[in-house]
Amino acid sequence: MVAAEEQKHSVIQYYKKVAEEYDREYDTPYFKRLYDKITWRYFEPYLPKEGLCWMLAGALEKWAIPIAEKGLKVVLYDISREMLNVARRKIMKRRLENMVLFEEGDIYEIGFSENYFDFVLAEGDPVS
Ligand SMILES: C[S@@+](CC[C@H](N)C(=O)[O-])C[C@H]1O[C@@H](n2cnc3c(N)ncnc32)[C@H](O)[C@@H]1O
Repeated sequence: MVAAEEQKHSVIQYYKKVAEEYDREYDTPYFKRLYDKITWRYFEPYLPKEGLCWMLAGALEKWAIPIAEKGLKVVLYDISREMLNVARRKIMKRRLENMVLFEEGDIYEIGFSENYFDFVLAEGDPVS
């Protein structure tokens, strides 16, 4: 395997292993009371009134839920099928499944045309 494929494979394997427990890492006062509030306050004013939002590597569903609750459609794009499955369960629990599409894919292999989305968010560590 070449280096990039090896890296992709290990990312997929890692998230496969941790998917069910991954949310717990963010269930701390630092995230709940500080990071999440600051992040939401920072980008929420930029959300369009309507349209399609793209959550890149967004299978934590942390942002897909409040954005869908505002009435915007969301495409949740993530490399990990297992992370997407966990997100799907949580989104169904909130009865937001009509607002969210789940798409498995690598951030390095984007197949959407320019201007397809009204808002794009790649928050957290996916870009780095
Ligand atoms: C810490 S979370 C990112 C935070 C996320 N933006 C959120 O919803 O809050 C890491 C996520 O990035 C995904 N991911 C990592 N590398 C990726 C890649 N190359 N393409 C797409 N998703 C990726 C993982 O599967 C995992 O669900």
